[in-house]
Amino acid sequence: MRFHVLTLFPEMIAQGLGYSVLGRAEQRGQLHFHMVDIRDYTQDRHGKVDDSPYGGGAGMLMQAQPVYDAYRSVAAEYESRGGGKIRTVYVTPQGKTFTQRMARELAREEELVFLCGHYEGVDERVLEEIVTDYVSLGDYVLTGGELPAMVMIDAIARLVPGVLHNGESAETESFSGSLLEYPQYSRPEIWRGRPVPEVLLSGDHKRIRDWRLERSVERTRQRRPDLYERYRIRQGFIERFSRQKRRYIHLTELLCRDMAWEECRGENSLLLRVEDTRTYALYAESSEEAERLLAEQGAKLFGKEEGMDLLVCGEEIRDFLVIKYGLVSGDACYQACYTRREPLRVRHRDIRPLTAEALEYVVRRYPAPGRAYIEGRIQAGAVFGIYTEGIEPYPSGFIGLHEDGSMGMLYVEEDCRGQGLASSLEGWLINRHLRRGETPYCRVGETNIAALGLQEKLGLCLCGDLMWRLREKKQPACGK
Ligand code: ADE
Repeated sequence: MRFHVLTLFPEMIAQGLGYSVLGRAEQRGQLHFHMVDIRDYTQDRHGKVDDSPYGGGAGMLMQAQPVYDAYRSVAAEYESRGGGKIRTVYVTPQGKTFTQRMARELAREEELVFLCGHYEGVDERVLEEIVTDYVSLGDYVLTGGELPAMVMIDAIARLVPGVLHNGESAETESFSGSLLEYPQYSRPEIWRGRPVPEVLLSGDHKRIRDWRLERSVERTRQRRPDLYERYRIRQGFIERFSRQKRRYIHLTELLCRDMAWEECRGENSLLLRVEDTRTYALYAESSEEAERLLAEQGAKLFGKEEGMDLLVCGEEIRDFLVIKYGLVSGDACYQACYTRREPLRVRHRDIRPLTAEALEYVVRRYPAPGRAYIEGRIQAGAVFGIYTEGIEPYPSGFIGLHEDGSMGMLYVEEDCRGQGLASSLEGWLINRHLRRGETPYCRVGETNIAALGLQEKLGLCLCGDLMWRLREKKQPACGK
C-alpha cells in the first residue's frame, strides 16, 4: 500500500514511520511512504507557503496554490496509472473521529493521500477541490496534522496483509470484536511478589480462552461502559439467534465478525447493514415486528438506494417487504453452515487471491452479481483462484466471499470438472474461516442440486427454512 503525505515537515513523518514494524514492512516493499514537501511547490520567490486570512484574525493560513500543486504531483501520476480521483484525507479536528472501523475501510485502498495542515489551517478552496475525507483524531487541538496523520497511517498500515507477521493477529486485538483486549503477561512467573494468573500456566487452551474472554468483558465493562453496552446488546441477539443457528447464521456471523452496524433495532427485530456496502440483513419475529421496526426508516432505506440488497428469512416477511417497498425477490435459497471445528482435508493446495487482472475472466464465467460487485470483491481480496498444472496463468476455478461474509461465486472450468476442485476450493475457504474462529456458511439456490450435494459432501448442515435476497426494482437479480 502506498501513502503519500503532503506536509511542510517531511522529515518528521519519515522519521516517525521509519522504525519497527512499519519500517521493516517498507523495506520488504509491502508499504511505501512518499513524502511530498509542500514548500517545494510554492511559486513564491522566498519559499513562502502561508499568508494572513482575509477578514482578519489571528495566525496564518496555508495557501491554496502550493498545496494544490503538491497534490497534483501525486494525483496526476495516479491518474496516469488509470486511477480515478485519489482518496485524500485531510486531518483536522473538524473531521469525523478516526476509529478502527475507519482504519479497516481505508486499508482497502491501494493508495492514500494525507494532507497535514499547519498554522491556523488551509485555504478552504483547495480543501473543497481535493479532499475526499475529513478525519479527526479526537476532540482536542494539536499544533499540526503531522502527528495525527502518523497515528492514522500506523493504524491503517498494520492492517495491510503481511505487515504484521501473523496476518491474522490484527483481527484478534482490541476493538476488532468490540471488546478491549485481555491482560497479558510474560516472564518472570513472579515479579515483585505478583504471580502470573495460574490458568495461563495450565496449558489448557480452552480454559485460557475462556479466562481471556471473561477478562476482556470485565475490562470493557469497567473501562469502556459505552462499548460494553453495545457488546451486551449484541450478545443478547447472538444468543437469540443461536436457538435457530442455521436459519440465522448470517446474522450471527455478521455480529461475531463485527462486519455490520445496526441500522435500527426493536425488541424482537434488528436491521443490520454490512459495513461500507448496500447489503442489509433483517431479523424479525413476524411481519408485524418488521413493519414496526421499519416504520420510520424503511421507505428511506429501501426502494431508492441503487444496488441495495436485503437478506430476509420468512415468507410472510418477504411478502410484506415486496408489497410495501416494491422490492423484487430473488430465488429462494437455503443456508448451509459448517458447525464442526476440525479442518477439512484439501487435495489441491495452490489457491490464491485473484488480482484485478482476473476481473474479465471472473465476470465472463460468473456474470450474475454484476461487474462492479465482482470488481469490489476482487479488490477486497475476497475472490480466490485454484491453480492446477497445465492451464496457468489462468486459474482452473474460483470461489469468493460475498459482502456479508458468506461463501459463494463457486466456479470450476468445464474441462477441469470431476477432479474435486470445487471441494478443494470450498474446503480451503472453510479452513480459512476456522483459523479465524468463524463459522463458515453459504447460501445455495433451492433447486441447485449439484451445489446442495457439495455442501452435504463437505459436511455442512443445511437449514430447512428458505430465505431470500430482495433488491429494488431497477437492478438485475443477484444469484449465488
Ligand atoms: N490537527 C490538529 N488537531 C487535530 C486533531 N485532533 N485531529 C486531526 N488533526 C488535527
